[in-house]
Amino acid sequence: MGKTSKDKRDIYYRLAKAEGWRARSAFKLMQIDDEFKILSGVTKAVDLCAAPGSWSQVLSRRLFENDQNARIVAVDLQPMSPLPGVIQLQGDITQLETAEKIISHFDGENADLVICDGAPDVTGLHSLDEYMQSQLVLAALNITTHVLKREGNFVAKIFRARNITLLYAQLKMFFRDVFCAKPKSSRQSSCEAFVVCLGYNPPTDYVPSMWNPLRLPTYEDLEKSTPINQRIVPFVACGDLHGWDSDRCYPLDIDDLLGPLPEKYIYREPVQPPTEPAYKHAVELRRKGALAKATNYLAQTIKHHVPKIQSETGIDDEVIEGFENFFISD
Ligand SMILES: C[S@@+](CC[C@H](N)C(=O)[O-])C[C@H]1O[C@@H](n2cnc3c(N)ncnc32)[C@H](O)[C@@H]1O
Repeated sequence: MGKTSKDKRDIYYRLAKAEGWRARSAFKLMQIDDEFKILSGVTKAVDLCAAPGSWSQVLSRRLFENDQNARIVAVDLQPMSPLPGVIQLQGDITQLETAEKIISHFDGENADLVICDGAPDVTGLHSLDEYMQSQLVLAALNITTHVLKREGNFVAKIFRARNITLLYAQLKMFFRDVFCAKPKSSRQSSCEAFVVCLGYNPPTDYVPSMWNPLRLPTYEDLEKSTPINQRIVPFVACGDLHGWDSDRCYPLDIDDLLGPLPEKYIYREPVQPPTEPAYKHAVELRRKGALAKATNYLAQTIKHHVPKIQSETGIDDEVIEGFENFFISD
């Protein structure tokens, strides 16, 4: 693939290089700020998971415009090239000592704003990646409860995945308003979005803590915490971990069967099939051969657009061919 193909495919990547941003993510933060004005009046900001540093660049450009003495602390596991005016800490946001180091740079005061664009290393296993991302957001929220001032704001990257409503509910306990923002520079095809949490207002008696209630080993551990800390909904796995796995396909004949299934497979009708299923009419039509044949619109669309896609993106023939083989069976 040619040197220019990424520039053709990704206008924000191209713009980032032209304007001197270290990553295209800079546009995401600027677009969030344009909408929510989260950077106005901020004099102490924390950028969690900051490397290579484009969000810190946005912070420094926009904060120093109004206040030359603004303080910006950037944290990442990875080292970062220096940025003028940005204090850099190499550390893990799941650790209490990182929170303490951040605070030490604000003369004991708390921050006006915490932002987090953190992402774990992706494995390609969607469920695992979603889980790791949600754990990182919780870690960001935990450290934020140590360093953010009352009425301060918090922005974090999320994946809009299965358990996202639980996260919204948890964030709503700590902030007056919680929004889910999707900047134009974040691809529509990606489930990435950003929670914009305004007005930090933790529940009365909440004790900032670095432990993650979703990972507590026992109920006793949960009971040791304050009542309000316990209200952060714990996730409880139920059932025998050695029992049947609902996500796995099993062969019809299985050795060493547990429970009531015979070793040799026997087909059985469902105990109570639906009495008036929604699909009944469609099944009748199909039986009579009266159901319209599905058209492979995707195949037609790909065939129609391939020459245009190729000329615009520079994707080479091999990639297009693989794509066609995958979707077009006729
Ligand atoms: C998408 S990058 C951030 C990009 C950055 N906002 C920018 O604009 O340049 C995600 C970062 O999260 C960091 N990260 C992941 N887990 C972390 C953790 N536990 N503590 C600190 N940083 C972490 C990674 O090292 C990586 O640099």
